[in-house]
Amino acid sequence: MSMTPQLVLPDMEEEEASSGPAEPSPPAGLRDSSFERNKQSSVHRWVPWIAGFSAGFVADVFQQYLPDPGRRDVTILEPFSGVGTTLVEGMLHGYNVVGFEINPYAALASRVKCAAFRLEPEDLRHHLIVFEHRARQRTAEIDAVFAAGGDVVACAPPPRAAPPPAFRSRVPFFSPAVERKVLHCLDIIHELPSAEMRELLLLAFGAVMVSFSNYSYEPSLGSRVAAGKPEVPNADVVGVLAAKMRAMLDDLVSYRAQMARFCPPPTARVIPASSLALSDHLAPDSADLVVTSPPYLNNYHYIRNTRPHLFWLNFVAASGELKKIETANFGKYWQTVRDAPRSHLRFALPELEERIQAIGEMHPEKGIYGGGGWANYAVEYFNDCHRIGVGLQYALKPGGVAVFVLGNSITQGIELVTDRYFGQIGELCGLHLEDIHLLREKRVGNSVVNSSVRNGQPTKATLYETAVVLRKPK
Ligand SMILES: C[S@@+](CC[C@H](N)C(=O)[O-])C[C@H]1O[C@@H](n2cnc3c(N)ncnc32)[C@H](O)[C@@H]1O
Repeated sequence: MSMTPQLVLPDMEEEEASSGPAEPSPPAGLRDSSFERNKQSSVHRWVPWIAGFSAGFVADVFQQYLPDPGRRDVTILEPFSGVGTTLVEGMLHGYNVVGFEINPYAALASRVKCAAFRLEPEDLRHHLIVFEHRARQRTAEIDAVFAAGGDVVACAPPPRAAPPPAFRSRVPFFSPAVERKVLHCLDIIHELPSAEMRELLLLAFGAVMVSFSNYSYEPSLGSRVAAGKPEVPNADVVGVLAAKMRAMLDDLVSYRAQMARFCPPPTARVIPASSLALSDHLAPDSADLVVTSPPYLNNYHYIRNTRPHLFWLNFVAASGELKKIETANFGKYWQTVRDAPRSHLRFALPELEERIQAIGEMHPEKGIYGGGGWANYAVEYFNDCHRIGVGLQYALKPGGVAVFVLGNSITQGIELVTDRYFGQIGELCGLHLEDIHLLREKRVGNSVVNSSVRNGQPTKATLYETAVVLRKPK
């Protein structure tokens, strides 16, 4: 399931809609940035992600902003790598890539995808056959018992794996028959002797696990019942997982053939840490080009939306561990700052300051649900824009370019032209704002914008997405 971030409603309160970007330039040969297109692209299609951009868009950016796209001694930096679109596309062009990703599940996706061309397709084919055979054997009884209305938990053999003890959900995440099958599949994956193969198959599991759960992305993760969909009492877990693995195997063959053109192959580093401290990890003046899409100012909760993956793949064992990732997330989240004392911008941008001030004054009667919390969230967001601006100034080579895909937002009925402010913040950090390309405009329905701040007056509004181009002076 992949979604574009600008259609996402915040968890609690209103925002969204727009009046259009600040004097954007024409698309300039950049393809549609929508992640949807990755669904058809080899390797890129392995893991659906909530937001991102297309491989074609990234390739266009290489073409347009690398001084000599044919050269190979190039380093591409992706500070918010998600499931690795920029990284994989960079490698397919023969470039060295460095990515940062704070969500361990997304970091796994980036890492596995970047390294997968080193795997032998024959090995994967063998493991796939063994997996399917064993999993069918171990789960054979479950369907029969389920069909007879019996207790699937009593089926033999018992799985060794257990559901993550601290993982809670409003309705059971997996129905009993599905959960039992999932546990057997995980047992078999964990039995694999090769760590690389194990990670690949765990990623395959992560990519499909929601599809046989009682939850779905709407676009935030919620119960199927709440979305008007039936629960999933039983499913062909083995078949779904094997089909995903087969698709990966097909792609692996062509991925290896493409990477064989490069000898030695390009290097890939995926750093599972925050990119807000680039200088802790990178040498100065080391990146030729940055292509990225940070979280938007729409409070889309990457961590909550991947809670099942984080628990079931053993990245976290307790909810407290999620808190640490939430507060290190770019812009934090409204939930983490809404009741904090009023925070302030760490740089001077009077227009932005005024807008945030106006947001902060909205609906004081709503307490933490009023403007104050959203103003804090906006302050954190733009302060992190400044932090990343400082990092770019440090990490880019002189003359190097950073292309940031961003969406606008309206918070408490007040528009924030995030892209224009981001450009201005970049300039405050010593970068040159070269361009803002309009990539997509999208109409949104009344359900999104007819919010209480508008007192019931429906507004047709347009959201947009732009690519902000910043260059480090020579
Ligand atoms: C819009 S998505 C990027 C998607 C990516 N371009 C792709 O195609 O998959 C933003 C990503 O930034 C990550 N992120 C948020 N805060 C971060 C931080 N401080 N450091 C590194 N990554 C962060 C989120 O986990 C999320 O995966």
